[in-house]
Amino acid sequence: MSTFYLTTPIYYVNGLPHIGHIYTTVVADTIARYRRLRGDDVFFLTGTDEHGQNIERAAAARGMTPRELADSIVAAFQEMWRRTGMSHDDFVRTTEERHALGVAEMVRRIEAAGDLYIGRHEGWYCASCESFYTEKELLPGNRCPVHESATEWQSEENVYFRLSAYQERLLELYRDNRGFVQPRTRLNEVRSFVESGLRDLSVSRAGLGWGIPFPGRPGQTVYVWLDALTNYISALGFGREGEEAARYRRFWEGGDVRLHLVGKDILRFHAVYWPAFLMSAGLPLPTTVWAHGWWLRDQRKVSKSTGNLVRPDELIERFGTDALRYFLLREMIFGQDSQFSDEGFVDRYNSDLANDLGNTASRVVTLARSAFDGKTPPVSCDDNPLIAAAAEAVAGYHAAMEELAFQRALESLWRLLAETNGYLVEREPWKLIKSEGPSERVARILYNGLEAVRIVATALLPVMPELAPRVLATVGTPEPPERFDGPGGLEWGGTAAGTLLPAPEPLFPRIDKEAYLAAESPDSVAADTRPQARRAGGADSGEGPPQDRAPAGRGAGTAPLEKTGGGQARATARAEEGDGMINIDRFFETELRVATVTAAEPVPKSNKLLKLTVDLGGESRQVVAGIAKEYAPETLVGKQVVVVANLEPATLMGVESQGMVLAASVDGAPVLLHPGREVPAGSRVR
Ligand code: MSP
Repeated sequence: MSTFYLTTPIYYVNGLPHIGHIYTTVVADTIARYRRLRGDDVFFLTGTDEHGQNIERAAAARGMTPRELADSIVAAFQEMWRRTGMSHDDFVRTTEERHALGVAEMVRRIEAAGDLYIGRHEGWYCASCESFYTEKELLPGNRCPVHESATEWQSEENVYFRLSAYQERLLELYRDNRGFVQPRTRLNEVRSFVESGLRDLSVSRAGLGWGIPFPGRPGQTVYVWLDALTNYISALGFGREGEEAARYRRFWEGGDVRLHLVGKDILRFHAVYWPAFLMSAGLPLPTTVWAHGWWLRDQRKVSKSTGNLVRPDELIERFGTDALRYFLLREMIFGQDSQFSDEGFVDRYNSDLANDLGNTASRVVTLARSAFDGKTPPVSCDDNPLIAAAAEAVAGYHAAMEELAFQRALESLWRLLAETNGYLVEREPWKLIKSEGPSERVARILYNGLEAVRIVATALLPVMPELAPRVLATVGTPEPPERFDGPGGLEWGGTAAGTLLPAPEPLFPRIDKEAYLAAESPDSVAADTRPQARRAGGADSGEGPPQDRAPAGRGAGTAPLEKTGGGQARATARAEEGDGMINIDRFFETELRVATVTAAEPVPKSNKLLKLTVDLGGESRQVVAGIAKEYAPETLVGKQVVVVANLEPATLMGVESQGMVLAASVDGAPVLLHPGREVPAGSRVR
């Protein structure tokens, strides 16, 4: 029995789980379940990354302590993993004591290896990225290349890690690449980053409250990535003694497979920094770092900051977790980017699950029940063309699963379903039942049909942990097997002859595509559908679809790969890879002010637009708002509203609008926002 340790990245706690997080965790869960069925000794870890300035700020912006924010987001992640049936063995939080012990031990070892020194860190610093930039990387005016906001010259004393000393050893690791970086196509980008020259890495920060104190360096905290990466061993007990470190010894030190699954945006941290830290500490390296691509929607990475989230809750609620799991694994070529579309989801569901799997299963069960008195046929059959087809499908499935090629694994199983259908159509058991009754020939044909579906459903156990057992029960196998190579596993002949067949339940009811797509405008799945403040004027005329519900995809290109800032690309990755927070400076770029309405009249020929004249504290502005259906002009005069004061003017139905009035959108209708009491016109809203 081999040990098999696998991990997901630990997720930031400044946003709720979205499809990107779910994808990595579904992949890990599928692998874990597959390896258990292969008989491996599996340990599957996930968790949360809770330190750092971004979290500190996100908490401050919500009026919470970082701990409070972390606790609430962790609860949401745990709930999501419960709903999606994840079978992780442990959930680590970087705020736990056991993790701090692991980090302290890691630092102690790196220090003992002579790889730490004190240095002065100077450069142009972007606080949102938590990263330094060289002059070459900056935009004109010393602005951050990611956020385009001003950077500051900073100079602080930090602890440095001699990353440069590991350049050769890392290149060696990639040279005799026994699959350390996967897929192989990603190896080049890692190698050329290292070949271009590694600079030493600052591994501490001064004056950051929310982090692990750097051992022996008062006032400094451990660099967030050194902290975060260490979770993979601290969770196993690294840094503790005796029994408490037993898992560490079993799954890391003496383990056979140590697999990290990561998104491509964080590959560098796992394939360069992490092995260098481990080499320095004299610890074994992961055996493989597997980088998958991104889910894109309308060509942009699904993330909080791009606002194109696929909210998994709705999909799960409507179609169940397993349909989503199947779709994610079937649709993405592991390693490449994939497009998420509602239409793609519905098509895949209807053709693969409702039709190929669901219909085949219920068709053969219905026939067997009618012919054999509600039971599986009384004979088994060990000589028929489906046996070879099943063996081939299973071999293809295993080969693909070993390479984490889920798409191919599923295709291989679906080939068996197609063969099974062909086999039934050719032999027409429904006609034979009529002409010869429950003959031996009919028994064999239907046995084979049931058995082929049983094999497919068994192989689907890792992918659809909830529905595959129900398909199995439908075809007469009420207990899923513990192992693929045991009784009732993937060998032909597991269906017991003459056992009860329950009436088939509709496991994959067909989705009415047109009705679904008509009801689900792209944004109602993509975006948070809670009522939200929306623009009631400005460029959103109210004549066309309001902007907050217009389809996304405004011509943006594919999300870029990460860039680095002075060797500390974490924050860059964070920003681009979409933990979704904007910094306070960016928020303040929008100038919100209270304005008093001094005049209001309808815009000619429009039944939605009103022209408002507002006083912004000594300055009069004309603003067009799409609120005519809800507000009579005369009721608005004297009222105070909130406007975006620095919006480019726009012309709506021939009338210039010099700003935008804010309103909550409630069932599509605007409800104006007013200050809680009368305030001086022009007051800033912040
Ligand atoms: N906290 C770090 C990881 C530290 S691991 C020691 C982090 N967290 S994250 O929450 O921002 O992202 C976690 C993972 O989710 C990354 O692997 C990232 O690539 C993945 N995804 C986030 N959005 C994604 C998509 N749209 N599509 C697929 N996965 C993406 O990075």
